[in-house]
Amino acid sequence: MFPSYRFVETSGEQLYVNVCRGCHMADAMGARAAATYPSLVANRNLEASFEVIDVILNGRRGMPPFGEMMSDDQVAAAVNYLRTHFGNSYSDAVMASDVQRREGKGTR
Ligand code: HEC
Repeated sequence: MFPSYRFVETSGEQLYVNVCRGCHMADAMGARAAATYPSLVANRNLEASFEVIDVILNGRRGMPPFGEMMSDDQVAAAVNYLRTHFGNSYSDAVMASDVQRREGKGTR
């Protein structure tokens, strides 16, 4: 990717549309083509908010890491949007400080 690139979107919705939708699709149902992009709809794996933070920060297999391209606020906004849309209703919002605490704790 481009190490110096930073996303400018601030709302979770804008971030989803511009960053995540390309792989996870507008309805978050994912896709199965050359690669498999998992559905994020009503996804029990999103219950653990720190795991969602980690996958955005560090990437996982076919998903690139976005930690260098997003501020802690942007990661938090994306996590909170995803966990309260697409059939997910986890109301325990994360904050930028939660994201900061996860930084450097790679999952790979
Ligand atoms: C380049 C394609 C791509 C982009 C862009 C992308 N993802 Fe992913 N994502 C994937 C793939 C592939 C996986 C499956 C990784 C694996 O094999 O474990 C995944 C997995 C996930 C998971 C874990 C799902 C689960 O059930 O464990 C979450 C959460 C997630 N992505 C959220 C996001 C968010 C939020 C964004 C935007 C900030 C995003 N993704 C952008 C490709 C992408």
